Amino acid sequence: MHVYDLIVHSLTYFQRDKQDRRRLICAVATEPLPKQVEESKMDAPKEIFLKDYKLPDYYFDSVDLTFLLGDEKTIVSSKITVLPRVEGSSSPLVLDGADLKLLSVKVNGEELKNGDYHLESRHLTILSPPSGKFTLEIVTEIYPQKNTSLEGLYKSSGNFCTQCEAEGFRKITYYQDRPDIMAKYTVRIEADKSLYPVLLSNGNLLEQGDLEGGKHYVLWEDPFKKPCYLFALVAGQLESRDDMFVTRSGRNVSLRIWTPAQDVPKTAHAMYSLKAAMKWDEDVFGLEYDLDLFNIVAVPDFDMGAMENKSLNIFNSKLVLASPETASDADYAAILRVIGHEYFHNWTGNRVTCRDWFQLSLKEGLTVFRDQEFSSDMGSRTVKRISDVSRLRISQFPQDAGPMAHPVQPHSYIKMDNFYTVTVYQKGAEAVRMYKTLLGSQGFRKGMDLYFKRHDGQAVTCEDFFAAMRDANDADFANFLQWYSQAGTPLVKVTSSYDAEAHTFTLKFSQEVPPTPGQPVKEPMFIPVVLGLLDTSGKDMPLSSVYHDGALKSIASGSQPAYSTILRVTKVRAHR
Ligand code: SER
Ligand code: ZN
Repeated sequence: MHVYDLIVHSLTYFQRDKQDRRRLICAVATEPLPKQVEESKMDAPKEIFLKDYKLPDYYFDSVDLTFLLGDEKTIVSSKITVLPRVEGSSSPLVLDGADLKLLSVKVNGEELKNGDYHLESRHLTILSPPSGKFTLEIVTEIYPQKNTSLEGLYKSSGNFCTQCEAEGFRKITYYQDRPDIMAKYTVRIEADKSLYPVLLSNGNLLEQGDLEGGKHYVLWEDPFKKPCYLFALVAGQLESRDDMFVTRSGRNVSLRIWTPAQDVPKTAHAMYSLKAAMKWDEDVFGLEYDLDLFNIVAVPDFDMGAMENKSLNIFNSKLVLASPETASDADYAAILRVIGHEYFHNWTGNRVTCRDWFQLSLKEGLTVFRDQEFSSDMGSRTVKRISDVSRLRISQFPQDAGPMAHPVQPHSYIKMDNFYTVTVYQKGAEAVRMYKTLLGSQGFRKGMDLYFKRHDGQAVTCEDFFAAMRDANDADFANFLQWYSQAGTPLVKVTSSYDAEAHTFTLKFSQEVPPTPGQPVKEPMFIPVVLGLLDTSGKDMPLSSVYHDGALKSIASGSQPAYSTILRVTKVRAHR
């Protein structure tokens, strides 16, 4: 057997293939389509910049919500324990709100008068809050039956349901509607018992009972701190398919999938998918479910595909319901993928969440990567990879080459809902996949373990994930973070030549990142390339050493031959 040396350096620029510039197709079930935003001129929202991020002046420790659900109007009362970030400071507390009727505001039990607060169309400002810890009580009136935005609390086929990601909670009550405000919630719901027999929210059911006038109530408590975008409420006439999962440490978890009665028979595959996802996350990442109950609700009107609200995932029906008579293989695969995706968010998104919405790919890129791996392990890895790469080429490459091109971690946004894109999701997943390529499965797992050890219960950034991967493996990732900050698809050109006399196979790499809107000049990217050689019969050939960027490195470890190696392409053209 010949022994080959690999020489890697670079070559010429590559001309972009214009045919790849096709129109963006939103191909991911969990990616909602961009919304048309209608705002009056006075209310025109401002552009928000990543570089302007500031810590909040106030944290919220606990939030007690009460909903009086009615067919004309719903009354929402909140009682929030507020802590100033800096003890003794009493700067104004600015709360977000939209389409709300304010009924009352109290601080430490005292009703505020007009001059104590300032009310505008999008904000309620408490002008001089007490300087230490205090309670804030707010009562608002909302109109879910008139809410056609499918954000906040609305009605779908007669049932109440919510969608709060990204900024829908502000349509329920005044709040600091930003993901770095993480609080423990209790939720009391009161409603007519015959119209709304099922009343669901996040966490564990603490109490339920009947009230006068044909009404009933429930009290839910979520013991985990969460940002308000993970709040959920569902009320209506629903039936459930019930099952059970025993976690590896022996916790019994009740699983319920809720639909209108006639659809329950169509939820068998969704339940299979949920149990498979729970087992897979334990086996592959050591991540166990953390409550005694996990609910999934399927509703017909739902914009986001599906949503990972803590212990109360809400899905568009088409991603839950399937019967052999009407569903194709692709429908079954989509249900497995999306049920897995939302379940996996319990750790990547919920237990560790995003500091701000510029970090969306921290949870979405990582969770798409996790659902891709799950689907690969449940089916064919090769077929799944081909389909994921096709999707990237068909829908993400054109976005990266067009007027909507933006980095995986965008620099600014006006309406966050428009950034649930194939770039943040699919390209973000490829960035995560590169960590795994560089570190191998075990190194990647070490990075994940450190990420949870450092950040459980926190709201963090893509840089924090990078640091966990790097530190857990003592790795040098050079300028890897360019994948998050620089838009555009890098074009890599590779040429090869073989010197039969010297038994040397030479590869030359060059890369170019084309200009994108707002980023006319690009830096070269850090591109890991996995490389192996096949002989004429298609068999892997052993590799001994690589001459890479001017240095000779041995590939084989000990007496074991190596069949592949990872090259680090970091420059426009590598030096010989
Ligand atoms: N957070 C949701 C998801 O991706 C939005 O679609 O699962
Ligand atoms: Zn997601």
